Amino acid sequence: MIAVIGGSGNLGKGIAIQLALAGKEVVIGSRKAEKGKQIASELSNQIDKKIEGTGNLEAVEKSDIIFLSIPHFAIDNMLQQIKPGLEPGNILVSVIVPLSKEGDKFALQEPKEGSAAAKIALETPEKVSVISALQIVPAKRLQTPEKSLDSDVIVCGDQPEAKEKIMKIIEKIPDARAIDGGSLSNSNLVEAAAGLLVELTRIHGGEVSIRFKGI
Ligand SMILES: NC(=O)c1ccc[n+]([C@@H]2O[C@H](COP(=O)([O-])OP(=O)(O)OC[C@H]3O[C@@H](n4cnc5c(N)ncnc54)[C@H](OP(=O)(O)O)[C@@H]3O)[C@@H](O)[C@H]2O)c1
Repeated sequence: MIAVIGGSGNLGKGIAIQLALAGKEVVIGSRKAEKGKQIASELSNQIDKKIEGTGNLEAVEKSDIIFLSIPHFAIDNMLQQIKPGLEPGNILVSVIVPLSKEGDKFALQEPKEGSAAAKIALETPEKVSVISALQIVPAKRLQTPEKSLDSDVIVCGDQPEAKEKIMKIIEKIPDARAIDGGSLSNSNLVEAAAGLLVELTRIHGGEVSIRFKGI
């Protein structure tokens, strides 16, 4: 089972939809179990596929892969909440971009650990793999399966098997190409690129995505 913590949010909904459409068993985690159930029921109706919903800890306990799709300032609290449910062999996937709004602009708030994913890895039990992915995709297009995603997805991580597993799952999203982005320490570069994407979207509108040539 795959958990999407923060699956009630913009990006989380899109991840849950795409994974369910790819035939995966998905559970949405929320700080309020009732909210998780409600959003899961709405998404299930939208795509005619079963998606479960529950509280964050319960969702983690049911799952071996956990997408963390929450604001960066919530990382510490969230990890405290879900740690008791993590087991050796689990994979935690950070999609988090540490952005803050300054006036009408977005700015990168690089954590002292180097990146949101690195911060998560430092606070996560040793036998749980932390992978960084999906920061540079437009959430709206993930939520609208009729539209092509038309995006590359950089995947970073230090455990090759876990990284490959997540890349295979991402490749199941139509018109998404997973690209191995090297070690988790590269996540700061991807998170910064996501910041640029958000700014370009603010300036130009639409749904901006990135395709790399030559790979
Ligand atoms: N939106 C995009 O296009 C996009 C693209 C790439 C990456 N990202 C990154 O993906 C992450 C999620 O983005 P989003 O736009 O979906 O965010 P969001 O809608 O602001 O939040 C996602 C969910 O996180 C939970 N949450 C909110 N505040 C929280 C708190 N203080 N503590 C714990 N949980 C909290 C909420 O779920 P519950 O209330 O159900 O608990 C919320 O629905 C962010 O880090 C963002 O930078 C976003």
